[in-house]
Amino acid sequence: MLTGAGISAESGVPTFRDAQTGLWAKFRPEDLATPEAFNRDPKRIWEWYEWRRELVRGVEPNAGHRALVELANAVPRLTLVTQNVDGLHQRTGSTGVIEYHGNILRDRCSAEGTIARRSSLSITGLPECARCGELLRPDVVWFGESIPRHAALEAGAAAADCDVFLSIGTASVVYPAAGLAESAQRSGATIIEVNTESTALTPLADFSLRGPSGEILPQLLQALRG
Ligand code: APR
Repeated sequence: MLTGAGISAESGVPTFRDAQTGLWAKFRPEDLATPEAFNRDPKRIWEWYEWRRELVRGVEPNAGHRALVELANAVPRLTLVTQNVDGLHQRTGSTGVIEYHGNILRDRCSAEGTIARRSSLSITGLPECARCGELLRPDVVWFGESIPRHAALEAGAAAADCDVFLSIGTASVVYPAAGLAESAQRSGATIIEVNTESTALTPLADFSLRGPSGEILPQLLQALRG
């Protein structure tokens, strides 16, 4: 199963591509979520991420997140891959979540690449690595960057070996995440999409369940339990 920004929308986390309220509404993604943008203006990028961190810390998981915790207990095996960096699946109690695009609440050293603690002394006023003093960055995957190796491998293997692939609340336009459903379909899996709108995946999906995931997923769970 793959989740995207749509599953957290009902918690109050804006999606990325909503023209009015989306997280990119005022900016082009290439101006913010790239290593080049960070190198050019780390202060601006940190301000944007601190704002998003506050937002994420202030919201609560919704019925869609909760239904997935229960779904994991109702089926023999469930692999939850998320493109979301908000950590809401984990906060709800989902285990073994594959964070395909990282986690916004973690810091990573921009030089060493390792998860890092902040130095209490900062020369630049920006978060610096307690070990080497270089700038920290959010532990997320930016445009043009690779998916963390273990996440790519685990998600790829699960997609190629599943009976049912659920795609929930994602526009299915950002690769390689969007390729997971295609890989599952090539391996003969049934593709089920849960989304308020049709997406790039809709033509490939065996079933398209239209509506908010906070309503559809509890219904799906109930139907499964009979
Ligand atoms: N329930 C289900 N789906 C919803 C809901 C909802 N309540 N609200 C919105 N959606 C759907 C939208 O119709 C859209 O298809 O969620 C999708 C959100 O799409 P995007 O904003 O593009 O988010 P996502 O697909 O997760 O983006 C993928 O792109 O910007 C990068 O790294 C970022 O992880 C992100 C990736």
